[in-house]
Amino acid sequence: MQQWPKYGAFVTEAAHFLPERVVTNAEVSELLDTTDEWIRERTGIEERRFLDREKPTSYMAIQVATSLLEKSNIDPLTIDLVIVATVTPDMIFPATACIVQAGIGAKNAWAYDLSAACSGFVYALVTASQFIQSGAHRRVMVIGADKMSSILDMKDRNTCVLFGDGAGGVILDRSEDSSMGLLDFLHCADGSNTDSLNVLGGGSLNPASHVSVDQGLHFVRQDGRSVFKFAVSKMAEVSAELLSRNGLTGQDLRLFIPHQANLRIIDAAAERLKLPPEKVLVNIDRYANTTAATIPIALSQACHEERLKAGDLLLMTGVGAGLTWGSALYCWGERS
Ligand code: ACO
Repeated sequence: MQQWPKYGAFVTEAAHFLPERVVTNAEVSELLDTTDEWIRERTGIEERRFLDREKPTSYMAIQVATSLLEKSNIDPLTIDLVIVATVTPDMIFPATACIVQAGIGAKNAWAYDLSAACSGFVYALVTASQFIQSGAHRRVMVIGADKMSSILDMKDRNTCVLFGDGAGGVILDRSEDSSMGLLDFLHCADGSNTDSLNVLGGGSLNPASHVSVDQGLHFVRQDGRSVFKFAVSKMAEVSAELLSRNGLTGQDLRLFIPHQANLRIIDAAAERLKLPPEKVLVNIDRYANTTAATIPIALSQACHEERLKAGDLLLMTGVGAGLTWGSALYCWGERS
């Protein structure tokens, strides 16, 4: 186990937001050449949520942030930092985190976005924890939010069936007890394979133009098969390695919260860690892949269904574009 500074960084509240509009596989099947059966069998997805067209990602993130403040009954002025993990920011700049900071009146907080796609929340949680464990900050808000429907090509069956919209987040507080909260993490990146999963348009490489729109460069594109293989191996590998270097096995975990990209990816990781189904949080059937939001939505669910109690060990693992992957080992503390 790593030697940490004297403070612990622990989650005192978790919350999530899902748009009301449910889009079923049957509805998607009316738009393109796919079927409910294919989507269920190959991905585990039954339905997803889509946000109203005119609402941005910050709308969902602010819902989460407001809910976090209400549930924990804290003053927004006590927040030192707001981090939003997203690949669908409201705009290229300013950061969506700044919009959230203003939206909740967290006037004393600095704010920035973190881009690591489906690993975004674990990257952000660990980054936020460093500020607390170092003693620099007492309270950080971390949100994962994505409006994937804003970058989906609804004519591309290889991608559009996989994603949904949503947001989730946590309040991280300082604890004098460093055996609580984040215990260890293992984060990785391999930037040599950016071709397998990306949105090519809208940045400095391919600024928006008639051509970029005509060529569909503002949509998510992926080589599903290679991403699948990569995710299957890395999700299991990074999770197993993090447990092993802490002298732990799957048996020691109360809960495994994997990124929700495909039920077959989750099942492969659970099998490698020898985890029974009751220890694995799965909600891909209802919400699909909400990118940076899958893990905090699931964490909030676990928290409010009282599936976690003080002292429980929890492993959160993400894999996504970049390529990025990472896992965080966490000891659950008392909620506020
Ligand atoms: N409906 C019907 N047929 C489809 C659909 C669909 N929605 N999508 C693909 N197919 C077809 C393909 O065209 C292909 O047909 P072909 O053999 O004639 O070319 C056939 O199904 C099989 O394609 P495969 O890619 O082998 O199907 P697979 O079982 O691998 O499933 C999937 C495809 C679901 C995309 C899978 O590869 C996957 O989940 N990959 C991971 C991608 C991912 O999750 N990306 C999200 C971001 S990254 C992350 O979160 C980790």
